[in-house]
Amino acid sequence: MADYKKPDYWQLKARNEGYPARSVYKLMEIDEKFSILKKQRNSASSSLRVLDIGAAPGSWSLFALRKFSEGNNSWLKNGFLAASDLLPLSREFDKGLFDGDNFFFIQGDVTADDVRKALLSKGPYSVIISDAAPNTTGNHMVDSARSLELAEIVIMYAESALVPGGNLALKVFQGSGVDAVLKKMKMLFETVKSFKPQACRGESVETYYVGLGKK
Ligand SMILES: C[S@@+](CC[C@H](N)C(=O)[O-])C[C@H]1O[C@@H](n2cnc3c(N)ncnc32)[C@H](O)[C@@H]1O
Repeated sequence: MADYKKPDYWQLKARNEGYPARSVYKLMEIDEKFSILKKQRNSASSSLRVLDIGAAPGSWSLFALRKFSEGNNSWLKNGFLAASDLLPLSREFDKGLFDGDNFFFIQGDVTADDVRKALLSKGPYSVIISDAAPNTTGNHMVDSARSLELAEIVIMYAESALVPGGNLALKVFQGSGVDAVLKKMKMLFETVKSFKPQACRGESVETYYVGLGKK
């Protein structure tokens, strides 16, 4: 049985590098492998607009905001990020980045109307990233069903708020029903890949589906 209370290699690395959660390395691996946050050749947008669903405590958001501030082209430098979570973001490492004009956060349930309206009003987005996950109960069937519900909601955001050519990375818990999610993604994107970053805990059932080039 894994001891989740003991900080592991990735947690310690995250804290040393100024991120509140180990999950940042999953996004780094996804971005390294699929370049989801890179300008697409056919992109007509003048800047990168990202939506981060299930953002707390805020590592993925910080990664995107740091990418904007370190960007070497105007597409990145003028980047904008909207994010949402049931929980507040950690302010431990953001050094003011969460107060910038290029960032919008709404605390709430992404399935709720007011949150959806607020997030859609900041779109359209070039990239949607979702690490959203339900609180686990220990019952695999219940947990994977809840994770799939969230994945379906994220795909709805991609349908209505992602630009043509845009990319999506979303987390799912493996289980019956993932095929339906994969099928929807294949209808929506030119290319769809399944990827389990090394930073995922070995025993974890989570994996990421990456959709490239919204049709
Ligand atoms: C693994 S954490 C995300 C970690 C984040 N990517 C980071 O790097 O800091 C999953 C998050 O999904 C959020 N979440 C789950 N269901 C949600 C919902 N319906 N609406 C908004 N956030 C949700 C949880 O509150 C939790 O903070």
